Amino acid sequence: EKGGHEYFMLKEIAEQPQAIADTLLGRLTDSGEIMLDEVRLSDQDLRDVDKVFIVACGTAYHSGLVAKYAIEHWTRIPCEVELASEFRYRDPVLDRSTLVVAISQSGETMDTLMALRHAKAQKARVLAICNTNGSTIPRESDAVLYTHGGPEIAVASTKAFLTQLVACYLIGLHLAQVRGNLYADEAGAIVEQLLKTPDKIRELLAGIEPVRQLARELKAAPTVLFIGRHVGYPVALEGALKLKELAYMHAEGFAAGELKHGPIALIDQGTPVVCVVPSPAGRGMLHDKIVSNIQEVRARGARTIVIAEEGDTAVLPYADHVIYVPRTPTLLAPLMTTIPLQVFACEIAAARGHDVDQPRNLAKSVTVE
Ligand code: M6R
Repeated sequence: EKGGHEYFMLKEIAEQPQAIADTLLGRLTDSGEIMLDEVRLSDQDLRDVDKVFIVACGTAYHSGLVAKYAIEHWTRIPCEVELASEFRYRDPVLDRSTLVVAISQSGETMDTLMALRHAKAQKARVLAICNTNGSTIPRESDAVLYTHGGPEIAVASTKAFLTQLVACYLIGLHLAQVRGNLYADEAGAIVEQLLKTPDKIRELLAGIEPVRQLARELKAAPTVLFIGRHVGYPVALEGALKLKELAYMHAEGFAAGELKHGPIALIDQGTPVVCVVPSPAGRGMLHDKIVSNIQEVRARGARTIVIAEEGDTAVLPYADHVIYVPRTPTLLAPLMTTIPLQVFACEIAAARGHDVDQPRNLAKSVTVE
């Protein structure tokens, strides 16, 4: 049942190329148009949207944090992301022109369900991104986009995360097209890149062995820190969550720019710091800035583990270890950079003798608030 893999988690990591292909299946036309027939919101409803709220928990929340960058960039609609467990208690400003996107693998997470009920009571439109057909969250939403990732058995979410990202990209592109923010050729170029991701992930997974070796070397580290900028920041949070959840190790993710505002004091001789580096071809000064952050932590004794794009030699002087991932446009990069972090956490947990698929104190779906 594990398809020759030692754990469900490894099987599900390996299934990610197919899972992404399944999320995309039937939703794209050759001319780059996004077809979301199951999204039963009219084009006029989508044109009327003036604010997007994404609500979710855990890993699904991290996918929402990535989605914010893409949705705002493509649609120019303000987008906020909020932990579902916090959302309704602060009386958010919602009305008919608010689109609330509830992201949940299981579709049964009580915090997310209560957030969506609150949004509906305030007349907001609710769109679910969900992996489980017929579950409660999509049933109670105005519309649903299923991720079609297949069952996820391991408690730690892997393929659900990547397919949630893909679903968010599709929604962002669709909203942008309907509202005339993105032209077909621009959307077409992004879609072309999305369609290439399954093969790129296969390539990445074929060369993943060094990550496993490195994980075994670091199994006794007292803490592991993760830093990133832009979409690499939620990836850093996700890498830290996986490590806490599976290896029961202290781990934290930071926005790299925040280091000097406090967390850099944590760096001691040999502290492993995983640095998620954006493409050198990406926007603005992002790449240079994180390279200097890597330099800063290294100067204070950190052991730097750098996740960078193939061909990025600028990181080499400051990296104790480099893990290269295939080239991808900045906004889509989490589809690549997350994967070494999943494998890393899985391997450390196994090396520490833990039950990778059933970590202590956790349930696959959290049906209490
Ligand atoms: O089923 P959901 O996507 O609503 O679950 C949300 C979180 O409980 C879930 O992502 C959790 O954080 C995972 N165990 C993380 O790996």
